[in-house]
Amino acid sequence: MVTRRAFLQTAAGGSALAAFRPDGPDRIAAAARSISGVSPAEVAADENYWREIQQAFTLDRTIINLNNGGCCPSPRVVHDALKRYLDLSNQAPVYHMWQILEPNIETVRRRLAGEFGCDPEELAITRNASEALQIAQLGLDLRPGDEVVTTNQDYGRMLDTWEQRVRRDKIKLTRISFPVPPKGLTELSDRLLGAITPATKVLHFCHITNLTGQIFPVKAICEEARRRGIRTIVDGAHAFAHFPYTVKDLGCDFYGTSLHKWLLAPIGTGFLYMRRELIESLWPLTPAKETASGDIRKFEEIGTHPAANHNAIAEALTFHDGIGGERKAERLRFLRDRWARRLMTNPKIRIHTNLDPAHSCAIGTVQVTGVPTPKVVEQLWTRWRIIATPIVHAEYEGVRVTPNVYTTLEEVDTFAGALERLANY
Ligand SMILES: Cc1ncc(COP(=O)(O)O)c(C=O)c1O
Repeated sequence: MVTRRAFLQTAAGGSALAAFRPDGPDRIAAAARSISGVSPAEVAADENYWREIQQAFTLDRTIINLNNGGCCPSPRVVHDALKRYLDLSNQAPVYHMWQILEPNIETVRRRLAGEFGCDPEELAITRNASEALQIAQLGLDLRPGDEVVTTNQDYGRMLDTWEQRVRRDKIKLTRISFPVPPKGLTELSDRLLGAITPATKVLHFCHITNLTGQIFPVKAICEEARRRGIRTIVDGAHAFAHFPYTVKDLGCDFYGTSLHKWLLAPIGTGFLYMRRELIESLWPLTPAKETASGDIRKFEEIGTHPAANHNAIAEALTFHDGIGGERKAERLRFLRDRWARRLMTNPKIRIHTNLDPAHSCAIGTVQVTGVPTPKVVEQLWTRWRIIATPIVHAEYEGVRVTPNVYTTLEEVDTFAGALERLANY
């Protein structure tokens, strides 16, 4: 008979012990079993379940990180996979990285495509959303005078990219403004579509903005643009694995996203989707052989790069699926509502995000009126060790707050209490 001690000394016993570590996959699986059949809305408020998820990360809990919009920590299983692949690569990179690890990028492509609802042959794996979007922005043939319509709340780097084409290729860039928060989604589509002129060749806009977390009615805009022969580039940097959808809900031509944000994949990961028939005509940023012009992989010809980062995306997808997209979105809204609904009753506080689920999810932007936002952010850090992002736009300002699945109620409540203190000072 194998004694308990002998068992624990074996390799099998070693992995059994690992499973019972505070962040062991076993505990996450047991937590998932405990909520089977329970609605996502009920699970959102089940602290026993979320405690298991909180324990799956190796965080610094002496700070309250409410800037998960920048880039996110990965759960330990994902970070461990990244480190394992790096260690393996380093044995003999030309063999272990190029021959063993790199070909497995195809598994990642297949799984990402499965999650996004597209064909794997329509999805290129990139290093971030900037690269994904710039491939589309710089790869389209545009003539002098051709117009791109976007918004003045799109991401700075993407606007800079278009500005470079204005200087280099003499295209025209039109940036529309929209209310914060809008009352209805049609306000957003009406403004974008209303700006189209006979010269418009491209519409570029966010699925969800990084400034206030405003979700756009992507499908309505893309369908109308397609009807008018206009290409659509959708910036989904903040959308993928944040709330559930597939490409069929979008109908866009090009879609770029980060995976080091809401999917919790390693830093330096993203993807670009494009409709299959567009691959041939889009120039890659980093040129590839002419024979590859119809192959989505032509956008991945970036030279030597670590395989570890993109391969560990697979582990992040498994972690994401273990929680479930619906459950995750419900929890994120639950956390956002917990601070936002408490603060919105304070006359000195303005919430710039429409809290309707059709308009937003985890991201919320809040202003303490009468106090400059950079000062509020500085106080949150120096007095409470809370990290949040100052948003100072020409038309409004506020603190952007982005919790994540590992955020505790105590952390959210500390933030809400801190903001009340600052507002009532
Ligand atoms: C709306 C939006 N687009 C694009 C990006 C760029 O993403 P990345 O840093 O992954 O290139 C960001 C980053 O925060 C963003 O918020």
